[in-house]
Amino acid sequence: MTITISVALLGASIAYANIHQGRAVNAALPPQSVLVDPKSFAVLPDDFSYRTDSFNQHFNPTNSQDFPTFQVFNGAFLDIIGSSPSISEIASNSSFAFAHEAPVYIAETDEVFFASNDGGPLGMSDINHNNAFFKLNLTEAEQMLSSGGSQTVNVPITQIPLPDSIQMTNGATGPSNGNLILANSGRGTIPSTIALVNSKPPHNATVILNNYFGRQFNSLNDVKVHPTSGNLFFTDTIYGFLNRFRDTPLLPGQVYRFDMDTSAVRVVADNIDKPNGIAFTADGKTAYIADTGASGGKPTEPGTVYAFDVDPTTETFLNRRILAYIDAGVPDGLQVDVNGNVYTACADGVQVFAADGTLLGKFFLDISSANMVFAGPGRMVILAETKVFLAKIAPTTKGVVS
Ligand SMILES: *[C@@H]1O[C@H](CO)[C@@H](O)[C@H](O)[C@H]1NC(C)=O
Ligand SMILES: *[C@@H]1O[C@H](CO)[C@@H](O)[C@H](O)[C@H]1NC(C)=O
Ligand SMILES: *[C@@H]1O[C@H](CO)[C@@H](O)[C@H](O)[C@H]1NC(C)=O
Repeated sequence: MTITISVALLGASIAYANIHQGRAVNAALPPQSVLVDPKSFAVLPDDFSYRTDSFNQHFNPTNSQDFPTFQVFNGAFLDIIGSSPSISEIASNSSFAFAHEAPVYIAETDEVFFASNDGGPLGMSDINHNNAFFKLNLTEAEQMLSSGGSQTVNVPITQIPLPDSIQMTNGATGPSNGNLILANSGRGTIPSTIALVNSKPPHNATVILNNYFGRQFNSLNDVKVHPTSGNLFFTDTIYGFLNRFRDTPLLPGQVYRFDMDTSAVRVVADNIDKPNGIAFTADGKTAYIADTGASGGKPTEPGTVYAFDVDPTTETFLNRRILAYIDAGVPDGLQVDVNGNVYTACADGVQVFAADGTLLGKFFLDISSANMVFAGPGRMVILAETKVFLAKIAPTTKGVVS
């Protein structure tokens, strides 16, 4: 169950001017959006019901009851969402968490690929059952939305058959030379793998890595390609064990680099509790890693996005610092836009931070998202377990594809 904690927002229009930081403000807030000025909730009233949990109790200080909503915490968010943003539900299945992670957008066919929940609630997968990999057609979704005049449609999804060597897909990126790149957790004794999958039918697949010098990874979580070197970077964490479909973990939670030419694999970052989402800035100089340490009811552990410098020679991750500690559950999937803003999926939807750590705004769903992907300029597909959302934002907002 989701409980939304609210406090009345005082002086919204005045606050709007405040957060616009000196820029001319005469435009109204765009549709489906609400202003959430940090000044309006810095001091909460005596009768405020404080949150005791950040996963199920979401912060909704304007008491808005319309979900999904764009919450504007800073004027710069208006440049990201543009003047006529919208978020629509394009697919749903209340009994199946079919849309969990591993989103990849293929522009050529206007399709989004994604994986169902691996080992978690409503995932219909466990140590005896693989999860499923799907695609949906965004052209079809857009046509259904415009013909029905509704903000909720249910586009059909198509399962992609994968070989038995690929089990419990949890992360993906691409396309890279026409292929999706999958990070698979493995299942039982079947190892974690990195695999290439043809983005076109017959969607044939090839495993390109399944061990670290003869040892199995714990359960690979997510993957990105470095934008300039082309090397592959992936995270390994213990969710396969926690979700009871993998054996006792035998390696630290780490980030690895895989050289696509030589197949050499090495560690580039450690000392992360549960390394999860990964993303690079367009220039490849900064890497972001999400630490989901607080998941599973551990509020004193990290729920934090870390920034690192990527060493230009070794590609080791250096100079770790905090980009943001998330106020809603933990940060899971990460994406970066071409202006360097960082998007993270978390317990209340998608939150957006500037490179300096400022919370700019939220795609506030009031339900949990584990990942999202840009689907061409001005579009983002958000996976929310039993639902998929399509957000339309400013056409100038574009994701880094890596
Ligand atoms: C929801 O998913 C279940 C499990 O795959 C399936 O049996 C059912 O038909 C789906 N429902 C809808 C409405 O698609
Ligand atoms: C996606 O849907 C559109 C509209 O129905 C259709 O024209 C197009 O062929 C579909 N794309 C694919 C790859 O099937
Ligand atoms: C898919 O099959 C084609 C044709 O055999 C091959 O050229 C391609 O490398 C394969 N792709 C993957 C990802 O296995």
